[in-house]
Amino acid sequence: MKTTILVAAFAALAAAVPSVNINRADRYSAHHQKRAPVFKDLTYNELSISGGTSGQAAAEAEAKLAGLPTDLTAIDKADLTFLNSVNQIANDAEIGAFNQQIVAVGVGEEALALQRGKVKNKVLKLTATVKKLTAQQAQGKNVTEKLDAETVKLNKNIALDVKDAGLASTLVEFDANTKDPEASNVEKNAELADQAIKIIEQSGGVA
Ligand SMILES: *[C@@H]1O[C@H](CO)[C@@H](O)[C@H](O)[C@H]1NC(C)=O
Repeated sequence: MKTTILVAAFAALAAAVPSVNINRADRYSAHHQKRAPVFKDLTYNELSISGGTSGQAAAEAEAKLAGLPTDLTAIDKADLTFLNSVNQIANDAEIGAFNQQIVAVGVGEEALALQRGKVKNKVLKLTATVKKLTAQQAQGKNVTEKLDAETVKLNKNIALDVKDAGLASTLVEFDANTKDPEASNVEKNAELADQAIKIIEQSGGVA
C-alpha cells in the first residue's frame, strides 16, 4: 500500500517537472546567484593599460575588467571591492607616478606621451568605478548622482584618448596591489596636479 502511494507520488512529481518550464536564462541567473568572485588580485603594473598607443583605451580597460556576470545583481561583493581597489591604486598612480613624471620631464613631447598614458590610466580607473556603481545600482543602492558624474568623466577621457589615436603613450610603473590598496596610498597633491597641467598646456596638449 505504502509503496503504491510513493510510486504514485513520484509519478505525479515526474509529470509536474516539465511543466515548471525553467528556461535557459533562468537557469543561467540561478547559477550566477551563487555569487562566486570573478577577479583575482593584481598589481598595478599588471592592470596598467598606459603603454603602447592611444585610441583603444576603452576596449583595453574593458578587457582588463572583463568576466563579470551579465546579471549585475549576481556580482559578488568581493568583485565590487576589487573594482574599488582598482580605482584607488590607479588614482594613486595618477598622482605618485604620472603627475610626478610629467613635472620631472618638463615641457615637451615626453610630457605629452606621459599625459596620454595618464589619460589611459584614467579610463581604466573610471571604467572600474562605473562598473562598480552600475552593479551597486542594480543591487538596490541609489548611486545615481555619483554614477552620472563618473560616467561624464569616463566619456571625457575616452574622447581624449580617441583624439590622440595612434600616438605613443607612456606606461609608468607604480608599486601597488589591489590586495592592499592602502599600502600605496598617495596624498592628494593639488599643487603637483596644477604643475602637471601647466606643463601639458605649455607642451601644446589638453589637460
Ligand atoms: C536617488 O538619489 C537622488 C539624489 O542623489 C535622488 O534625487 C533620487 O530621487 C533618488 N532615487 C531614488 C529612486 O530614491
